[in-house]
Amino acid sequence: MKENPIILGIESSCDETAAAVIRGRTILSDEIISSAAVQAKYGGVVPEIASRAHTDAIGEVVSRALDTAGIGKEELDAVAVTYGAGLLGALLVGLSFGKALSYALGIPLIGVNHIRGHLAAAYLEDEKLEPPFVTLLASGGHTAILYTKSYTEFEVLGGTRDDAAGEAFDKIARVLSLPYPGGPQIEALARTGQNRIPMPKMLKGLGGYDFSYSGLKTHIINYVHTMSQRGEEFCAADVACSFQHAALDILAEKVVEAAKERGVKTVTAGGGVIANGYLRELLQAQCGRAGLKLVLPAKKRCTDNAAMIAAEGLIGYRAGNFSPLTLNAAASIPLR
Ligand code: KG4
Ligand code: ZN
Repeated sequence: MKENPIILGIESSCDETAAAVIRGRTILSDEIISSAAVQAKYGGVVPEIASRAHTDAIGEVVSRALDTAGIGKEELDAVAVTYGAGLLGALLVGLSFGKALSYALGIPLIGVNHIRGHLAAAYLEDEKLEPPFVTLLASGGHTAILYTKSYTEFEVLGGTRDDAAGEAFDKIARVLSLPYPGGPQIEALARTGQNRIPMPKMLKGLGGYDFSYSGLKTHIINYVHTMSQRGEEFCAADVACSFQHAALDILAEKVVEAAKERGVKTVTAGGGVIANGYLRELLQAQCGRAGLKLVLPAKKRCTDNAAMIAAEGLIGYRAGNFSPLTLNAAASIPLR
């Protein structure tokens, strides 16, 4: 077993076909071919279109990752690939490709849980980062606060009771007639608006580290419909800005609270919503005030990418957690 193995990561769970090569925790390449622009026409990801796009892109994206890294296939020590959660047909493209490479090259296959990949992205940002720490996870499918005890063990301290944060961004974007994916659109629009539309306080009312986005979502849908029915103009930028504050302030607040309660000195974050500039600044400010070190993955490694899959693969490699070639894709798998 090598101390710093060369690992190829492959990701194809949604609309990004991605491949990356890492050596130890150093990123040698990180390539993506996205079908998001095609999907935007349909207002969301169409599974069959995603599968076809992955089939077209997988060979090219893996070649690009190896070329950019300057690594020959025979130099790889393992292949890490997302096996779930995600769109089944999409996952199968990356997984089959990864299995074929593993078999042909005689190197271990490491099946990676996509969400654990998001959690592992922070390890690539700071090579000295070590557990324990508290993490804010906010993606399209999950919103949770976790306590990471060791590289392979974590505890879920709380999570959303209904929609995930990213899902809420996507739904509010639709209400405001913004294209998919909604997160970056809302963020851009919010920059020109003001936080002056009252939002329900219920988000903060939930105890512990749980969240709920359904009340906030319903409130905004009602607000927009009522204004339209009355024929009154409303400022979409103000709606975006007020929503963004209500949806994200609570995340920063609770992750800092959890870190203090657990007595850790470090906070990390992962998932698409962590690419949000307002949330990043808020986390910096609040962790700074609380004397906590904050490790944020680069924006491009918050949204789906293969470097984070390789990073989780490195943890699996060091723990000797290899997968059989019979590993199947899974549309949904628990967080742990
Ligand atoms: O982690 P991710 O790429 O995919 C999942 O594993 O779900 O997250 C995608 C989610 C989408 O809901 C998208 O709208 C949201 O992350 N997102 C953002 C931003 N960029 C992506 N949300 C808020 N602000 C952003 N800048
Ligand atoms: Zn993701």
